[in-house]
Amino acid sequence: MKIAVLAGDGIGPEIMAQALKVLRALGKDGLKLELEEAPFGGAGYDAHGDPLPDVTLKLAREAEAVMCGSVGGPKYDALPRPQRPEQGLLRIRKALGLFANLRPALLYPELVGASTLKPEVVSGLDIMIVRELTGDIYFGEPRGRRTNAAGEREGYDTMHYAESEIVRIVEVGFQTALKRNKKLCSVDKENVLETSRLWREVVTGLGKKYPQVELSHMYVDNAAMQLVRNPKQFDVMVTGNMFGDILSDAASMLTGSIGMLPSASLDATGKGLYEPIHGSAPDIAGKNIANPLATILSSAMMMRYTFNQDKWAQRIEAAVKRVLAQGYRTADIYEAGTQKLGTQEMGDAVVAAL
Ligand code: IPM
Ligand code: MG
Repeated sequence: MKIAVLAGDGIGPEIMAQALKVLRALGKDGLKLELEEAPFGGAGYDAHGDPLPDVTLKLAREAEAVMCGSVGGPKYDALPRPQRPEQGLLRIRKALGLFANLRPALLYPELVGASTLKPEVVSGLDIMIVRELTGDIYFGEPRGRRTNAAGEREGYDTMHYAESEIVRIVEVGFQTALKRNKKLCSVDKENVLETSRLWREVVTGLGKKYPQVELSHMYVDNAAMQLVRNPKQFDVMVTGNMFGDILSDAASMLTGSIGMLPSASLDATGKGLYEPIHGSAPDIAGKNIANPLATILSSAMMMRYTFNQDKWAQRIEAAVKRVLAQGYRTADIYEAGTQKLGTQEMGDAVVAAL
């Protein structure tokens, strides 16, 4: 397994070190890995003046999978937009054609108290958000700034989807639903947007191919409300890039800690980039208190989605469940009666549980 490792900024290097420790521990049982690191995000800017340096993109192209930590930090906030760490992330998604972003929101029973919602609303929660990742208003042209006839400054972006872009992500949505509880909710703003009208037509058409899947449509504002009102009504949600960005943050917090959630961004062949959904948390970087579990769980998703090795994925996931059951917690999920561990110690606990 040839894996590019882009640790990134802030807590990225610390949490990545724990995920690599877990993967290396599996080496004893026959997992064969080739890991190579490269600078990315702010670290890419520091090393090469570019958040996605050529060497990094080359390594990512040659690898079968990419493991990412997190990018960004106050140090880079004042840079012009092309040099900002976030641009590195957007560019690597586009360059590698990673159009399918899978963001699970899974509540571990041990962490039910960490959610801001009542236990009965969230216990047993298991949602998969399938977010389109390389189109929409994130990449639509034209975009820019101009001065209008009245001499006032304007900013503008373009929301845009071609039919083929909708088809391929919605197919991922249906296929994901087939492997789960066979319910797919497509989220749009069809009452207002042309893009969404096309989206809904395409989804409805594809639905005929999947009679086994119970398909529903929901406006994005209602979806945001339903996620906090009754999130367990959802199994798989499929949506565009921007709606998915917003809804996946809301869904993640239902589970109590954004520090627990992994993600996969896949191309059409199963090549993928795997990263925790949380950010670089510069305020706690270097303090050995960040939660490495989202990154460790991202490596499990990599085993499942790129390498089709469910057995390794399950072993990693079972080890994480075990450390939670043993009462080990990092600071973000700590509750009275549990045992607080640092980042490295949590990595060690997962290795021991393996
Ligand atoms: C995410 C992030 C990114 C996005 C940012 C950092 C560009 O919020 O992965 O959800 O908006 O896609
Ligand atoms: Mg986001």
